[in-house]
Amino acid sequence: MRHFTSILQLGDIREAVRKAMYVKAHPFDDQSLGRNKTLLMLFFNSSLRTRLSTQKAAMNLGMNVMVLGVNQGAWKLETERGVVMDGDKPEHLLEAIPVMGCYCDVIGVRSFARFENKEDDYGEKILEQFIRYSGKPVFSMEAATRHPLQTFADIITIEEYRKKDRPKVVMTWAPHPKALPQAVPNSFAEGMQMTDYEFVITHPHGYELDPSFVGTARVEYDQDKALEGADFVYAKNWAAYEGENYGKVLSMDRSWTVDSRKMALTDNAYFMHCLPVRRNMIVSDEVIESPQSIVIPEAANRVVSAQTVLKEILESL
Ligand code: CP
Repeated sequence: MRHFTSILQLGDIREAVRKAMYVKAHPFDDQSLGRNKTLLMLFFNSSLRTRLSTQKAAMNLGMNVMVLGVNQGAWKLETERGVVMDGDKPEHLLEAIPVMGCYCDVIGVRSFARFENKEDDYGEKILEQFIRYSGKPVFSMEAATRHPLQTFADIITIEEYRKKDRPKVVMTWAPHPKALPQAVPNSFAEGMQMTDYEFVITHPHGYELDPSFVGTARVEYDQDKALEGADFVYAKNWAAYEGENYGKVLSMDRSWTVDSRKMALTDNAYFMHCLPVRRNMIVSDEVIESPQSIVIPEAANRVVSAQTVLKEILESL
């Protein structure tokens, strides 16, 4: 694997999880693989988990790591071709990308949807330019439409906790005061298509996701009905996708908050969220602090997912 931008690139998900479990049990077996290799992690947006877990994964593989926050000390980058650069952005991405490619062996990029232009977001304009112009393997640390390292960690976590051959996994929209990208729910839905789980998506009308990510999932507009008998509840907010509402907050309906009454509808489900999470908007204090909350082991598995992917990229060099 040279580039990693979608969970689908892992191929057989059972085999990928098996490899991940080996990495988890033997984190320092491949220290020589990354020797004298440098990872550049580039952040156009903030991060806690992705930044730390990917850095830890690279260090476990013996790599050197450089981290650059684009808005924290670097020149502001122009991303549009053809603009007269007489504003506050002194460097163009088209020079910056190949220059950064000169300094490293692998590049990780975080670049969220901007909600300015749906075609640019869903065309993964920034990530694709890195793949095209850096000359180096590129992996997504959450791009406009997907967050595959998160999804891989989510699936590893479900595999570790599931008690049934075919668990029921429910991804539920929950309220949030700001417009959040669809990358995590898109990617999670994409990952669920690789499993044989029963997968249900629930959200208010107007929050339909891109059908190419939804695939064959059941969409249920009644959250209570969706949660009945669930084994895993995966909560996430996202902004509207469809039409002129793209990128908008249409509802702040707190009756969608995952609380103890909602969890009581499930089959003693585990609660999951990619974090960061806004308490008492997305999930009640009680639920996230309950023994059924597995958000911390889920976050811990971010090291495992990143290390498994980085290992494959290093093996391809
Ligand atoms: N879940 C996740 O990607 O967290 P960060 O935004 O903190 O990296």
